[in-house]
Amino acid sequence: MTLSSPKPRPLIAGNWKMNGLAQALDQARAVAAGLDEKPAGARVAICPPATLLDRLSQALEGSAVLTGGQDCHVKTSGAHTGDIAAPMLVDAGAALVILGHSERRDDHGETSALVAAKVETALTAGLEPIICVGESLQQREAGSALAVVTGQVRESLPAVLAGQAFAVAYEPIWAIGTGRVATLPDIEEMHAAIRAELVVLFGDHGATVPILYGGSVKPDNAAEILRTAEVGGALVGGASLKASDFLAIIAAA
Ligand code: 13P
Repeated sequence: MTLSSPKPRPLIAGNWKMNGLAQALDQARAVAAGLDEKPAGARVAICPPATLLDRLSQALEGSAVLTGGQDCHVKTSGAHTGDIAAPMLVDAGAALVILGHSERRDDHGETSALVAAKVETALTAGLEPIICVGESLQQREAGSALAVVTGQVRESLPAVLAGQAFAVAYEPIWAIGTGRVATLPDIEEMHAAIRAELVVLFGDHGATVPILYGGSVKPDNAAEILRTAEVGGALVGGASLKASDFLAIIAAA
């Protein structure tokens, strides 16, 4: 008899992207205070810009909020001006790292093969990767969204993820920062396709890996998105910058 793994708690992760000066720490403190008052069913993380990571981790120490990086280099040290190594994120208090975000894939030409290599580096450093996938509007309109995203899953997830803690985030590029959300049937269809890939790749473990949705998740649409089949959490951009909005999304999980 094989014991099936328990379903993990949903993960609600805030991606602050290139936003936030020292003042923004107050928003994170307010999130922690809110969760102290009313503990969440979900795991919660904030991924600030690298300049704030150390301070944010210290400010949130002992709270229910984890911190994470937004990227890491594939190497662990060396002559890579401007880049950040996975052990540096750990040193600054991070427990997680977002990898393969579409903004990294677009702005920095990151390929799925590079993302897979970064995932290995992150795991070795002890970080839990959130691996992002998602199609462009052109790809969706051409009818190739499912093929593109399942291909990204196959190519961005290395075999060493077997048995490790990680999450996949489905973020349709056209829904990011646009206020335009994928329809619930579209989310359900894509998450089911990603789940099927995960099971092929990782067997029983693949059946329990959280699949987050990202793209214009707001307090007023979070509950229905988070109730959708195979949605195991959310990766939240804009709405994670304001404590009250982020807390409302967390409460919906
Ligand atoms: P928005 O929530 O601002 O659409 O951003 C989504 C995202 O890209 C999170 O990684």
